[in-house]
Amino acid sequence: MKTLQRTLTIVKPDAVRKNAVGDIIEQFEKNNFRILAMKMLEINKHQAEQFYAVHAGRPFYNSLTDFMSSGPIVALALEKEEAIADLRKLMGATNPANAEEGTIRKKWATNIEHNAIHGSDAEDTARFELSFFFAGYELAK
Ligand code: CMP
Repeated sequence: MKTLQRTLTIVKPDAVRKNAVGDIIEQFEKNNFRILAMKMLEINKHQAEQFYAVHAGRPFYNSLTDFMSSGPIVALALEKEEAIADLRKLMGATNPANAEEGTIRKKWATNIEHNAIHGSDAEDTARFELSFFFAGYELAK
């Protein structure tokens, strides 16, 4: 039986700069994700480091957190059956060179770092990431 899940997605600064926000949100709706909450904001370097703490120590951590704090982002809470896996399929591979045709990263990502969109990779990270950006009362019932 498929279970209803929630996941956190971020339209990253590169995709916001390309005016891709509307196109990417349209993909969520066309693929039957329910938008529970959405906000445009900028995070600072420290907040980006907290969000990506799981990658601390990786060679790309410093430039990733610089990039994620370089301009506006759009964070969304999404809900669907199998939302986590379905969103990751819709996003495409982390490295757009390996992303399939029809995926968001194939269309909008520039490279493995400037890759247009983030999505939670598991239920525990989704819980952490949703609570990072949204209080419970901000989510649609
Ligand atoms: P995201 O889904 O946001 O999760 C972690 C991010 O780190 C990932 O997308 C990429 O943007 C980035 N990333 C992962 N691997 C690399 C890498 N090898 N070089 C640069 N950035 C990376």
